[in-house]
Amino acid sequence: MKDIITLSIESSCDETAVAILKNGREVLANIVSTQIELHKKFGGVVPEVASRKHIENIDAVYQEALDTAGIKPEEIDHIAVTYGPGLVGALLVGLSYAKALAFTLGIPLVGVNHMQGHINANYIQHKDLKPPFVTLVVSGGHTHLVEVKDYQTYEILGRTRDDASGEAFDKISRAMGLGYPGGPIIDKLAKQGNKHAIEFPRAFLDDSYDFSFSGLKSSVLNYLNAQKMKKQEIVVEDVAASFQEAVVEVLSTKAVHAAEEKGYKTIALSGGVAANSALREKITAMAAEKGIEIKFPSIELCTDNAAMIGCAGYHNFINGKIDDMSLNAVPNLKIDVN
Ligand code: KG4
Ligand code: ZN
Repeated sequence: MKDIITLSIESSCDETAVAILKNGREVLANIVSTQIELHKKFGGVVPEVASRKHIENIDAVYQEALDTAGIKPEEIDHIAVTYGPGLVGALLVGLSYAKALAFTLGIPLVGVNHMQGHINANYIQHKDLKPPFVTLVVSGGHTHLVEVKDYQTYEILGRTRDDASGEAFDKISRAMGLGYPGGPIIDKLAKQGNKHAIEFPRAFLDDSYDFSFSGLKSSVLNYLNAQKMKKQEIVVEDVAASFQEAVVEVLSTKAVHAAEEKGYKTIALSGGVAANSALREKITAMAAEKGIEIKFPSIELCTDNAAMIGCAGYHNFINGKIDDMSLNAVPNLKIDVN
């Protein structure tokens, strides 16, 4: 059978990324141009700045992907592109570029759900992974427990009722003046702290697969304020470790519980927070006790990239999910919509 070459584009937030894949799982190029340094001084992503940067970067990122893969444009079989969820202006840059490429090359355009891309990162990392399995999707905007029934069918078991887990990391980091994005900073600091130093609350929401992190966030903010008012020292390493432990304990307990109840032997972690070292460690240990295996992508495949979009786009493509030039950006696209 002829190889299928996918060129994929991701521009939903602050990374301009282009990847080239062979047959969905073999990555020939995965180029990511991050804007993190640019947004750092604002403490978060500024949508207008992000869109403008995507426009400036995308041509060079596309060229670099072709050069790295050693692929000529006429060898590409289809274009995959993130069409949501994300920042509308940022999404539109990648989408317009993808449409122009698909049109001029005369090849199919395939829209990809960014969150399904995060889940698909696991297929690139683990060549033998096949659905069904349970996935814990934890990113800056999402915290979902999802059943992956097959390559195209996703069923939501639970979701956060307020803040996403990554958002909680970012807000706590900002409150302590540590910088953006908060996840990797807190992860690193926590290694030097005592995770039992401060007892922050855990919302288990029994009888539901949903999550809630706003109570924990408020509790950490109250602790920080109280220490300041009392002119007492704040040991940032201990706050980071204790906060992280509260998040990780809830995520791990609920994901393992869901897999057990639904009879799955595999849990895949996806999204930026899946890069968290404490989460990887804790959930692996908890799952092992129940005979459940934990899979997660490499750090580069956890955070935003285009290879994961290419893998999801390949699955859409071979299953006949092809779009036309009327495809629009959907900023609030739900995780279970192809
Ligand atoms: O998936 P992602 O790159 O972008 C979205 O689609 O949101 O996720 C970004 C989020 C940010 O909130 C960031 O703080 C968090 O992932 N993150 C981490 C770690 N690395 C990134 N959170 C905890 N620990 C990490 N090591
Ligand atoms: Zn993402």
